Order: sequence, then C-alpha cells, then structure tokens
Amino acid sequence: MPAPKPHKPPKGFAKNATVGSMAAYEKLYEQADRNPEAFWGKLAKQELHWFKPWKKTLDWKAPFAKWFVGGTTNMSYNCLDRHLTTARKNKAAIIWEGEPGDTETITYQELHRRVCRFANVLKKLGLRKGSRSIIYMPMIPELPVAMLACARLGITHSVVFGGFSAEALKTRIIDLDATVVITADGGWRRGKIVPLKATTDEAMAECPGVKHCIVARRTNNDIKMKKGRDHDWSALEAEVSDVCPAVELDSEHPLYVLYTSGTTGKPKGIVHTTGGYQLQANMSMKWVFDIKEEDTFWCAADIGWVTGHSYIVYGPLLVGTTTVMYEGAPAHPEPDRFWRIIDKYKVNILYTSPTAIRAFIRMGEQWPKKHDLSSLRLLGSVGEPINPAAWDWYHEFIGGGRCPIVDTWWQTETGSIMISPLPGATPLKPGSATFPLPGVAVDVVDMAGNSVPKGGEGYLVIRKPWPSMFRTLWGDKARFKKTYWSQIPGVYFVGDAARRDKDGYIWVLGRVDDVMNVSGHRLSTAELESALVKHKAVAEAAVIGKPHELTGQAVVAFVTLKQGQKTDDAMANALRDWVGVEIGKFARPEQIRFTDALPKTRSGKIMRRLLREIVTSDKVSGDITTLEDLSVINRLAGQQDEE
Ligand code: WT7
Repeated sequence: MPAPKPHKPPKGFAKNATVGSMAAYEKLYEQADRNPEAFWGKLAKQELHWFKPWKKTLDWKAPFAKWFVGGTTNMSYNCLDRHLTTARKNKAAIIWEGEPGDTETITYQELHRRVCRFANVLKKLGLRKGSRSIIYMPMIPELPVAMLACARLGITHSVVFGGFSAEALKTRIIDLDATVVITADGGWRRGKIVPLKATTDEAMAECPGVKHCIVARRTNNDIKMKKGRDHDWSALEAEVSDVCPAVELDSEHPLYVLYTSGTTGKPKGIVHTTGGYQLQANMSMKWVFDIKEEDTFWCAADIGWVTGHSYIVYGPLLVGTTTVMYEGAPAHPEPDRFWRIIDKYKVNILYTSPTAIRAFIRMGEQWPKKHDLSSLRLLGSVGEPINPAAWDWYHEFIGGGRCPIVDTWWQTETGSIMISPLPGATPLKPGSATFPLPGVAVDVVDMAGNSVPKGGEGYLVIRKPWPSMFRTLWGDKARFKKTYWSQIPGVYFVGDAARRDKDGYIWVLGRVDDVMNVSGHRLSTAELESALVKHKAVAEAAVIGKPHELTGQAVVAFVTLKQGQKTDDAMANALRDWVGVEIGKFARPEQIRFTDALPKTRSGKIMRRLLREIVTSDKVSGDITTLEDLSVINRLAGQQDEE
C-alpha cells in the first residue's frame, strides 16, 4: 500500500506564519547549523532583555555548557516588566478556570503586582538569591505567581507534581536541601479535595531543613498550622509592599530543578538555568506555536511537569500571549469540559497529549460536537508518539480538518521543543515529529555514533549544545556524565530510538532504557521496584511496561513474596496502594503478578526482556542461554492474565 500523502499546511495558515515555507525553514536551519553562536546570539539580543550584555555566547567544555557567559538577565522581568510599557499592559496574561467552575482573568499588570508582592514575602522570610524552594501546589494562579516570584529573586524552585506522595515529596525536599515549601490547603480533582497540606505535613515531619511553609487557601478544608513554621499566604502578603525590583541574575543562574525518573531508583534533578532556557522557550513559542498577538493559548498539561513549566508559564509569558490554565480533571463534571473551555475562551491553540486524546476518543465525538471549536487554528501533541488513528481523530473532530497538528518531541532535559513540524511550513505525516528546530543538531546514529542512512533505525542523539539544555543533575555531575554523555562520547544520548524515513522525517519509536511512558509521564522500572521491595512482604520485584490502549504503557509488576506471605487479591491491592504511598497514585501498577522466582542471568541480572515477552505474547522467543533457571520461564508463561 502506498504511504498516504503528507498533509500540506493550509494556504491561509502558511501566508501568515512565522515560518511560511520549507525553503524558509531550511534556510533558518542551515544558518543556525553553520554558525550556532552567531544565530543564537542574534536572537538573544533581539528577543530578550539583558541588564548586562554577555562576553561570550557559548562556553562548551563537553559535557558542560554555559550560554551568554557574563550576561545578566531575569526571567520574571522578561515575562512581566518589559510588557508593562507596551499595549500588553492590560492584556490577559492568565485566564484561569478552577474545577468547580470559578474563574479569574489576570492581566500582565496585575500578575506583575502579585508576583512582586509575593517576592517581598519570600524576601521577608529571609530567602534570597541561591536559596531553594519546593512548590507543591494545585493548578491555581498562586502556582505561577510563586514560580515567577522565585525567579525574580534568584531562588531556585522545584515544582513537585501534586499527585506525588509524601514520600516522593520528602526525597525531593531533602535532595534539593530546600528551606521553604510553598503549598496550598488542597486542590480540586474530580470533585474531591486533594489534601496537599496534610501530605506536606507528613513530608516535612522528616525534613528539619524546612524553616518555612507558606500555605495558599484554595479548598478551605481543615488543616494543621505549625506555629513559627507554617504561614498563611494572604496574611504574609498583607504585611508587604508590591514594589520589588527584579534581581540582576547571571545568565547561568539555576532557574529551576525538576525531578524526573531515570534508570535507577533515585530521581534525577534536572537543572535548568536562565538565559539559554529563556531564549528557546521564547523561540519555540514563535516557531512551533506560531504565536500571534491576538492568540489565546492553552497547554492542557500540569505545571508539575516540564511541559507546564515551558508552555503554560514561561514560554507564553515571555512572548506576551494569553495562557489558559485549568485546575481539574478533563472529564469533570462531564466529558466535554475541554471543549467547553475552548468554546468559552475562544482558544486558538490547544496543546495536549496523545493519552488525553485517546481518552476523549473513548468518550465519543458527541462531546466535542456540542461546542463551537471554530476558534482553534492550531493543535499540538506531546509526551509520546501519537498513533495515526488518534492523529486523524484529533485532526477531524477537534481541528475541524483545518488545523495543522504539531507533534512535538522533547524531554525534561531539553527544556524546550527540539523536533517538531513548523505549522506553516512542514508537510505533516501523522505519527512523525518530522524535523529538528533551527539550532538543534539532531541525528539518528548507530552505537558507534555514525549517522544511519535514510530509511534506517538507530539511537536519537543531539550532536551540539543548545541554549535550553539542562546543565547538570542537581548534586550529581558524575551521573550526568555517565547517563547522557558517555554512551557515544561528546554527543547527548537521548534514550529514545528513532527511524529516519526516505524523506528524512524522524519517527521517534520509544525508550531504549528501563524507563516507561505511562500517560505521557516518565516512570522508571528501578524506582517502582525499589518502592515494592521496601514493602515488608516483598522479597523481590521486577517491573515492566506493557502496551496499553489508553495510557500507552501500563505498569506490570512481577513480585516474589517472602516465605509464608499470601499471594491473594488482598496482597495485590495492598502492594498497589503501597506504590501509591511511595511514589504517587498515578504510578500504581495495573497488574501485580506473583511468582516464586524471576528470570535471571547467571550474574543475577533480571531479564526484563523475557518478562516483556511473557506479558505481550505469553511465550518467549530469542536467546535465553544466559538464563540461570530455565524452568522459571515455563512457570511464568503458564500464568493467566489476572485482568
Ligand atoms: C520522553 C521525555 C517533554 C514533554 C513531556 C515528556 C517521550 C515526548 C514525544 C513525541 C515521541 C515523545 C520520549 C522522550 N516523548 N514527546 N512527540 N513523540 N515520544 O517529558 O517526562 O521528560 O519524557 O517522552 O520518549 O524521551 P519527559
């Protein structure tokens, strides 16, 4: 069967786009490739405010990069202050909707005022440049306010997704050595209160380094306030002024740390700095989302993940657009909540994930059909490869057949979008993230680092440093080098496999390491396994990802219990809940399979490849000669799926 024809950009769209043709894209790409420093330097000057210009555009001592060396700038200034002398002063910066239906529209001027006031609160508590904060909040306006206030003073923040457990929160507080935790009494999710303060209390009980906890009021549930340590957000605000100049920060000042899963049990603290991150968050808004002054932009992610950092808060505010923020669950109170929001605020650009799209497909197209979605002009996808069937549905029922879809590939580590169509230029092939953005030296290579020919498969890598790249892992340079820069020397090893087709389009195939992608969220097998073996009944555990129609992958845990423990449903449920406590509810295994032994190599390494084959095909092919005890496989393969 011949491959379907790529979807060309609609004519009207191309005419008004930031990049309006493939020729224009190729020209930009070549320009950047020939002299990346000149390319990025010119844009940084043109697009951002600098208090002091830099002396050197790039300092690259692989794998350590510094961008705009010696320059000083401030993210909060670039997101807010500089818009206040323009027509954007009273433009909506944030349109917020709570799950119960309450709403708020915050102009740039008002947001600036709130950020300055809260920055003064932080200052008054003794926090300053170099301090670290943990932000554990629901999706309410106070969350971006807290981030921008930290950025204003040079306090490095780490936002922890509200679905994480007390245990996960605690390890992050300790790893970052944070002295302040900013949280809320609770948040709304599916009509219920998520008790964030109670969870924070549990975490803080074992974090003596936390001197202050600031609590915003959202759900008005009963909470405990520890005298001297816990403070009410509004009470603190009442005591300070709303004048607070942005601190001049070095371009390489750490803006934030965001924890993500890797191949060991310990999460990695991805460190992003200021100047370079600002630049690429800004440029990707213009190139990929083709932002126009009159646009209303909605990235429907959670700010707890990098997508929300770059495309709900920093990117949109840098370019002065209106960013929509929604607190709650997508199908609450009814499956049309998203479409209702788009209709109500006349959203022009929607950015969401394949897993969300698949869930909407299940709920049926009668829900989007109830609403006028004609304001939409562009759609985006992120988190995992989008399957062509989901692409078609998204294109037809949400985009009305008229909106290009940008399938954006990137990672927590890359800080901003790396591979994506440009909506006015790139002919789209559903399922392909297409081509790298200008200045991003993506390649597909074999293990020796040689580019694979068109039509070939290999490892996805980035050959040259880029401004928004992560600089290191918080407190762990050695792991930074080893995980990302040693597989193929001098080249950034992404951890994904990819194919380049005969036209040069890139198709990302998925992870090549022991990292799973569940609903667009990264989970590591090792992290889940160490959580499971911490349970008193468990002797050993091996976790794998199984293909799943809705969530992309689902967690399956093979568990060996200690002698005398019962392998029944009650135990399986107890273990599932245990993972909820150790990591967060979203990480609970879909399936627990009890086994008296796990397949291992003679050197004792668990052969997860075999387990994967067992759950997908119920048998094992391929090489098992390194297996220590062959009978294990027969016993495992004989088991029936429990669900
Ligand atoms: C991993 C990064 C950065 C946004 C959210 C996830 C997978 C992400 C795509 C895409 C195919 C994708 C990759 C990547 N991924 N976007 N458009 N097509 N795969 O961030 O948790 O850091 O995960 O998500 O496997 O390595 P993350």
